[in-house]
Amino acid sequence: MKATCLAILSVLPGLAFAASNPNVQVDGSTCRVVPLGGGQDDGPNILDAFSTCSSGATVVLDSYYVVNTVLITTGLQDVSVELSGTVQYTPNIAYWSPNSLYLTFQNATTYWFFSGDNLHLYGGGTIDGNGQVWWDYPNKTVGTAGGSSTTFARPVPLTVGNATNVVVENITQIGSPFWNNFVYQSQNVTYRNIHINTTSYSSNAAANSDGWDIYRSSYVTIEDSTINNDDDCVALKPNSTDIIVQNVYCNGSHGISVGSLGQYAGVTDIVANFFVNNVSMNNAENGARIKAFGGNPDPNSTAGGGLGYVKNVTFQNLQVYNVDYPIYLDQCYDTSASMCAEYPSNMTISDIHYINITGISSGNEGSVVAFLECSTECEDITATGTNLTSPSGNATYLCQNIATESQLDFGCRAPSSSSS
Ligand SMILES: *[C@@H]1O[C@H](CO)[C@@H](O)[C@H](O)[C@H]1NC(C)=O
Ligand SMILES: *[C@@H]1O[C@H](CO)[C@@H](O)[C@H](O)[C@H]1NC(C)=O
Ligand SMILES: *[C@@H]1O[C@H](CO)[C@@H](O)[C@H](O)[C@H]1NC(C)=O
Ligand SMILES: *[C@@H]1O[C@H](CO)[C@@H](O)[C@H](O)[C@H]1NC(C)=O
Ligand SMILES: *[C@@H]1O[C@H](CO)[C@@H](O)[C@H](O)[C@H]1NC(C)=O
Ligand SMILES: *[C@@H]1O[C@H](CO)[C@@H](O)[C@H](O)[C@H]1NC(C)=O
Ligand SMILES: *[C@@H]1O[C@H](CO)[C@@H](O)[C@H](O)[C@H]1NC(C)=O
Ligand SMILES: *[C@@H]1O[C@H](CO)[C@@H](O)[C@H](O)[C@H]1NC(C)=O
Ligand SMILES: *[C@@H]1O[C@H](CO)[C@@H](O)[C@H](O)[C@H]1NC(C)=O
Ligand SMILES: *[C@@H]1O[C@H](CO)[C@@H](O)[C@H](O)[C@H]1NC(C)=O
Ligand SMILES: *[C@@H]1O[C@H](CO)[C@@H](O)[C@H](O)[C@H]1NC(C)=O
Ligand SMILES: *[C@@H]1O[C@H](CO)[C@@H](O)[C@H](O)[C@H]1NC(C)=O
Repeated sequence: MKATCLAILSVLPGLAFAASNPNVQVDGSTCRVVPLGGGQDDGPNILDAFSTCSSGATVVLDSYYVVNTVLITTGLQDVSVELSGTVQYTPNIAYWSPNSLYLTFQNATTYWFFSGDNLHLYGGGTIDGNGQVWWDYPNKTVGTAGGSSTTFARPVPLTVGNATNVVVENITQIGSPFWNNFVYQSQNVTYRNIHINTTSYSSNAAANSDGWDIYRSSYVTIEDSTINNDDDCVALKPNSTDIIVQNVYCNGSHGISVGSLGQYAGVTDIVANFFVNNVSMNNAENGARIKAFGGNPDPNSTAGGGLGYVKNVTFQNLQVYNVDYPIYLDQCYDTSASMCAEYPSNMTISDIHYINITGISSGNEGSVVAFLECSTECEDITATGTNLTSPSGNATYLCQNIATESQLDFGCRAPSSSSS
């Protein structure tokens, strides 16, 4: 009897799979994951669903899932993921630190590496990184620049990696232990209607909760989204080109950031064709920020000495409220003034345009609302429609080595004693 059943099922592969895994319901080209419940790990069933529905198919995640298995879903082709439920990663530091997927930039690791061509992730659901346990862990940032390490990994909840032609929309992200999103070695990725809230319940603040980090990627658009966090709202890391950020509300962040670039001697970093439009920046350290390290004579330096360029960047219609530096451009980032003077940066910065940067600073920098410091001359930097005020009176703008100072619609003053 049993043998007969198996024989029949074997000619119906979909059913055979369903019979072999009752927690993946296969219906035509749709794979729905049924949660195990009781706190059990749904990760293996989610991986099963992605391997069955890996091409021209839809994976449905419409319930509450507990995930204690790293999700590496690669080689997908024409796959939709309807996430209307919640994917919650376990607070299992002992599992995740060695097992989250290690990526090759700033020791970042990830819970989920989502990879392939023509992918669509949507559905109104939530990705919960369960960050609280990581923020409350003693010495959470020990050991690394990025704050993550192989022994204490703080994974990125969603990495779109080695991917092309991806749309991620209508998703809420909460509790990210590290960056919320990482766009890694990917082309043509659009995020739309994403709502990020990284807020700690305890006195231990969240850390490194960037909304997005982009690395070795091009044609990336982030739009119509809200970000409540405590680090960069969006950060363009090395080799980010043709990037658009528009119609975005940021609260509590470090700003829309390019960099840091030029950190590693001899390494070439490129950021080009970045268009930022219609951003509301609130309670933040920076508004529009560009930071590049100065030069360094040590051929093995990890604190400057890189080369490359930042060019064709427009920050337009950026409205700030309670922001320390609404405009910040630093070509001597984390480099002493004397070092930067002796070894100017080999990261050139040019063709940067500030259009309609308006609002009020925090006053944390006194009356200073803009800081533009280049080590060698930065070419073709312009500003129009600037209307910034500071709570402590007339706004002050500090500039150094800006070749086109006459094309800024504000009066510059040299920084008194070269800071940073
Ligand atoms: C990566 O982690 C190792 C070991 O914790 C640390 O030595 C190194 O500085 C980290 N690198 C970065 C870029 O954070
Ligand atoms: C945290 O770091 C401090 C200072 O380095 C050290 O004294 C303490 O033992 C560390 N705690 C843990 C749990 O690693
Ligand atoms: C991403 O692509 C690179 C280059 O092809 C490859 O070395 C790496 O293993 C890929 N990563 C993953 C997780 O598939
Ligand atoms: C970018 O990806 C989207 C979604 O897959 C696709 O519709 C669009 O045609 C792609 N654009 C280009 C230029 O390939
Ligand atoms: C995303 O949400 C918007 C607004 O609620 C809705 O119009 C759109 O159809 C949704 N898109 C998808 C793919 O579900
Ligand atoms: C973000 O989450 C915190 C903690 O759950 C909550 O108090 C706050 O209202 C949330 N903010 C938004 C904008 O959803
Ligand atoms: C960036 O792109 C340039 C030019 O292709 C390349 O030489 C460099 O190695 C890349 N840098 C990184 C960090 O990938
Ligand atoms: C400058 O960047 C914009 C997008 O921000 C792009 O449309 C334009 O083509 C770029 N210009 C050049 C010369 O590449
Ligand atoms: C740079 O690193 C290489 C390889 O580790 C080493 O051989 C060389 O001596 C170092 N150079 C300096 C100036 O420290
Ligand atoms: C970097 O800049 C220094 C001047 O600070 C210059 O002497 C050096 O040749 C440059 N290195 C490269 C690789 O361009
Ligand atoms: C800049 O602001 C002015 C005045 O509000 C407006 O007329 C203009 O269209 C804005 N420029 C852009 C490029 O949006
Ligand atoms: C500058 O902004 C203030 C409000 O912050 C406004 O009252 C004023 O009219 C603006 N000036 C110009 C020239 O747009």
